[in-house]
Amino acid sequence: MSAQTRSQRITVPDIAARKGREKVVCLTAYTAPMAALLDPHCDLLLVGDSLGMVVHGLPSTVGVTLEMMILHGQAVMRAAKQALVVVDLPFGSYEANPEQAFQSASRIMRETGCQAVKVEASEGISKTIRFLVGRGIPVVGHVGLRPQAANVDGGFKAKGRTAVERERVLAEAVASDEAGAFAIVVEGVASDLALEITRKVKAPTIGIGASVDCDGQILVTDDMLGLFDWTPKFVRRYGNMRDLVEKAVASYAEDVRAGRFPGQAEVYKLRAHS
Ligand code: KIV
Repeated sequence: MSAQTRSQRITVPDIAARKGREKVVCLTAYTAPMAALLDPHCDLLLVGDSLGMVVHGLPSTVGVTLEMMILHGQAVMRAAKQALVVVDLPFGSYEANPEQAFQSASRIMRETGCQAVKVEASEGISKTIRFLVGRGIPVVGHVGLRPQAANVDGGFKAKGRTAVERERVLAEAVASDEAGAFAIVVEGVASDLALEITRKVKAPTIGIGASVDCDGQILVTDDMLGLFDWTPKFVRRYGNMRDLVEKAVASYAEDVRAGRFPGQAEVYKLRAHS
């Protein structure tokens, strides 16, 4: 067990200073009980908009709202005491202009108490990142596979496998870095491109389906715990929660049907009169 006890929460400068020195351990968190379990082991917890698919059963992250992000951000912040907590800006809450992004990001930070927000790279994103950082909002960039652009891309596809795409992803990473992002998520790109980005940018890169050479790694927690029957190629399963849940629920159902639950030890009894 590599649980760590820290007297203070990890800060944005702490994460930025990890570049090339110490790997940054990140996972997604959407609920208070899971955040409490992850917190002692992680440097950064991301309240990712993947919660739309993982928790709410949506087909993509496009249907996730600011209100959903705030509700889950509040739950995670109640339980996470050590890790830096970053909340995703959902689709439609920041792309119009930097002012819209500031309204959404400041609301998320005010109402959840999180330390930073994450934005996916798109047209004009460096202007938005610079605007937010200049107004006290730390930003994590996100390049490569951008789940919020799944409709433009025709699904969730790895990026940077052609020369044109490679140039675009690299340019987005450099632009996010120069605009002041303190970390950059690099998702679903060829591993040599992830290495090139990691070498080029000042900010630590956080890989997901990218490369072991990134400065840190992140996975969707429910994927790595084995809660789904299908996971992308880049996920390593560290547990088989799906099996555990299925076995536990089947046993419970059998016990209830057979009248074996609750047992004597699991019911309240009248107190003896004194
Ligand atoms: O929404 C999310 O969970 C993410 C991670 C997969 C990086 O953006």
